[in-house]
Amino acid sequence: MSTYTLLSNISTLVTSSARGGVCRTGDAMQNLGVISNGAVLMDSSIVAVGTMEQILSEHAEKISDARRIDCAGKTVMPGFVDSHTHMVFAGSRSHEFARRLAGVPYTQIAAEGGGILTTMRAVRNASVDEIVGVGNKLVRAAIQHGTTCIEIKSGYGLSTDAELKLLEAAHRIASASPASIHITFLGAHDVPPEYRETQAPFTSHDYVRLVIDEMLPAVVAQGYATACDVFADAGFFSVEQAENICLAAKELGLAIHIHADEIANIGASELAARLGAYSADHLEFTVLENMKAMKDAGVVATLLPGTAYTLRLPYPDARLMIDTGLVVALATDCNPGSNMSENMQGVLSLACTNMNMSIEEAITAATLHGAHALRVADRKGSIEVGKDADVVMYNVESYTDLVYHYGVNHVERVYIGGTQVVEA
Ligand code: NIG
Ligand code: FE
Repeated sequence: MSTYTLLSNISTLVTSSARGGVCRTGDAMQNLGVISNGAVLMDSSIVAVGTMEQILSEHAEKISDARRIDCAGKTVMPGFVDSHTHMVFAGSRSHEFARRLAGVPYTQIAAEGGGILTTMRAVRNASVDEIVGVGNKLVRAAIQHGTTCIEIKSGYGLSTDAELKLLEAAHRIASASPASIHITFLGAHDVPPEYRETQAPFTSHDYVRLVIDEMLPAVVAQGYATACDVFADAGFFSVEQAENICLAAKELGLAIHIHADEIANIGASELAARLGAYSADHLEFTVLENMKAMKDAGVVATLLPGTAYTLRLPYPDARLMIDTGLVVALATDCNPGSNMSENMQGVLSLACTNMNMSIEEAITAATLHGAHALRVADRKGSIEVGKDADVVMYNVESYTDLVYHYGVNHVERVYIGGTQVVEA
């Protein structure tokens, strides 16, 4: 049996081509490299992409015994790269969600010891197996909705043992999943109760010391996380604390992502620029000056419209960011508190309807730019020769239907590394 698969007669083939680079900023975000009546020839990576005519004439030999899939009436795109999730946790926060719907602010619930701390208690009481069970289900659903590469953060343990337990769970999920999974340590997600200022003798500064002196070395020794994130925002960690944690993490060889400007602009996205972070994420309150700093430093601006939607926050100013030339990415932020959704098709819809992004810009942000946020755009995020064959077929004539006809799952087939992992 041939190792080749030929996706043939594709009505709309979206390559999201990077054209030799790692991103397409500004007006180029519009340019999805669309091919009508296209074809993709692949084994574990992409062998050829073009029009049906081109591929048939230039690759006749390989095609002769390839597995052929007829894609007439379908759209084929690169798999989504969901570059920001918190898919390892335990328990549910639906009761807090209901309170928020009734008008109680997220910050008030957090100040009462709920929010992230509710999930922290559930995680501390859960076994690794239970957490793996939660994460597996979310990753599986994400793949079924067209995601092929996912970042997963810890951050609900808030003690050395519990953070290592979450990272262990993420590693087990990654080992068993066909998706490519990137693991990030987010020990500085919130200050646990035993280190709150009101509970002397400990303070949040002591917790930061624990993160730097004990957690980070243990995380690196464990060997599963490749990046470090900090929630640098009002009521959480200060810019100075975040900077100290990130500098220590960089010293240990970890990449940096920062949760920035979600609640207030305390200077977190400016810090991301100063540190050369891979990405700054959220950015609801980011101002032009900081956008420019991020652009100059090559920091990806990862927007999470599902969170703004769920928390009823003002949406990030995606238009100004794109016009400033930033690399804008989109991700779910899938987590039990601020966005309980693993669906990137839903993120496209929110980005277009509520952040005034065009459908083309949103797809670029959810594929190629998500890959660049993880610094894997050399292998992921577009359908180009030599890249991994992470390819999704949708049961729609054109990619515009993914946003126009929203709220349902259009995925028909998902290939990861050329292997079919979903058939609807
Ligand atoms: O990205 N902003 C910080 N952390 C998560 C929310 C965590 C939670 O509420 O459980 C986020 O939105
Ligand atoms: Fe987040």
